[in-house]
Amino acid sequence: MEGNGHSSSSKSLERVIYRKAMQVGSSAPCKIWVMGFFCGVCIMYLFGVALPTLPIQQSHSVYPPVRRAVLWNFTLTGPDGATAMGELPSSPEKIEEPKENEHITEARITRLYNAWSTLLDTNQKVLKSSGMPRPPHLEDCRLNVERNKLFDSYGDNGTFPPWTLWKGSLSLELWGQKYSEYANQYRQYPPWIVGSDEENYPLTRQVQRDIWTHQHPRNCSDPSLRFLVADWERLPGFGIGAQLAGMSGLLAIAIKEKRILVTNYYNRADHNGCKGASRSSWSCYFFKETSLNCHKRAFELMQSKASWADGTVKVKENYTSKQMWVGRIPRVWGEPWKYLQPTTEINGKLIRNHRKMDRRWWIAQATRYLMRFPTEYMCGLLNGARHSAFGFEAAKLVLQSAQDDSSKVGTTTRTESDIERLVWSDHKPYIPRPVLSMHVRMGSL
Ligand SMILES: *[C@@H]1O[C@H](CO)[C@@H](O)[C@H](O)[C@H]1NC(C)=O
Ligand SMILES: *[C@@H]1O[C@H](CO)[C@@H](O)[C@H](O)[C@H]1NC(C)=O
Ligand SMILES: *[C@@H]1O[C@H](CO)[C@@H](O)[C@H](O)[C@H]1NC(C)=O
Ligand SMILES: *[C@@H]1O[C@H](CO)[C@@H](O)[C@H](O)[C@H]1NC(C)=O
Repeated sequence: MEGNGHSSSSKSLERVIYRKAMQVGSSAPCKIWVMGFFCGVCIMYLFGVALPTLPIQQSHSVYPPVRRAVLWNFTLTGPDGATAMGELPSSPEKIEEPKENEHITEARITRLYNAWSTLLDTNQKVLKSSGMPRPPHLEDCRLNVERNKLFDSYGDNGTFPPWTLWKGSLSLELWGQKYSEYANQYRQYPPWIVGSDEENYPLTRQVQRDIWTHQHPRNCSDPSLRFLVADWERLPGFGIGAQLAGMSGLLAIAIKEKRILVTNYYNRADHNGCKGASRSSWSCYFFKETSLNCHKRAFELMQSKASWADGTVKVKENYTSKQMWVGRIPRVWGEPWKYLQPTTEINGKLIRNHRKMDRRWWIAQATRYLMRFPTEYMCGLLNGARHSAFGFEAAKLVLQSAQDDSSKVGTTTRTESDIERLVWSDHKPYIPRPVLSMHVRMGSL
């Protein structure tokens, strides 16, 4: 492992990473594996791999947004383009008319795809009046962010955020005085956790709620609050997986010492895409790890010598790399990792228990928390990535579904029903299945 006098640059990079991150303990390969694993987890999260299949694939005739397609140019106008938009709703006979459209042409798919591209580029929503089919693979980023802001902050009277068992807009709609009395009971449902408890790591909902509460005190000016301010790792050898593993270690320290973790410089956000205060900050991609007030407070305290002296504020450099990378996982929730389903096999033997199960569990919790709500910028990047990867395929499917459906369509313009607006508001964007997620690790030994 050690260099022999003529180490190449990749060798020395390897050593830097090795020294810095895997310094302690004898199971370095395992640690690296954990980092790689979580990078994979992030990717899975970002692309929604763990989410249930979307209805569009299974039930073309039920998923309402595609019905709009029949009212739109793509399905109705023949190659002559004679049918005008405005006439469509009142001329039902025209719906069956253009037989040549049964064959969905490349040109029409391209037109729909391009129309969606324009929406993306100009950051617009599908106007209901246009009758344009809603792009099933794109999210309404602005709406999501507005909603998530409410989920991520206290109400005017210091009321707990409106977390409920219901998802999406439904929880906000039903969140009224009638339900507020049950607020404590609904706190168990951090809205960024999806799926049943069995599908998540042990105690995920409770741990996520507790981390959020820990990181969001009601009054950030409370003099008893203490802070841990930390930059993200910035050595070039650190991938995002290693950065997350490092920050998870710091979050563990913060929880154990009852400090609020405040993250600072993030090299991956140090570019022009990250505007204003989000430049060089995690908050370019995801909601802040703490409230804006606590963030401000921490930086105020850093100006004061007394706060340094009495330990109100600490920084990463106040801890050893051993504390950060292999420190003890908080025990406030007991040892839930003992209930993790074993999935590690070595030499044909299932490893039921190993020393790193606690760390694996914790890094997943910390990562889940830090990535709970993407920003509008991040959401837009993902929209763009999905659109270029399979937007064309989505356009084809949508036109095809509209075709299958056209015989059943009534004569009036559809208005968005309550169930669509509220209950289905939380549907995740369409992704073709099956999806294979591949993660290529760098820096493996
Ligand atoms: C629909 O077709 C008409 C005539 O071809 C065109 O003027 C109009 O811009 C089209 N509308 C959309 C939304 O593409
Ligand atoms: C805030 O509290 C006051 C006094 O308790 C109450 O009158 C008011 O309705 C509350 N406002 C909200 C939005 O809950
Ligand atoms: C927050 O705490 C500070 C210091 O204890 C106090 O001055 C301030 O009034 C508190 N703010 C609220 C809204 O309770
Ligand atoms: C933390 O580190 C800073 C400098 O990095 C130092 O000034 C401060 O005294 C340290 N605080 C404690 C409590 O060790």
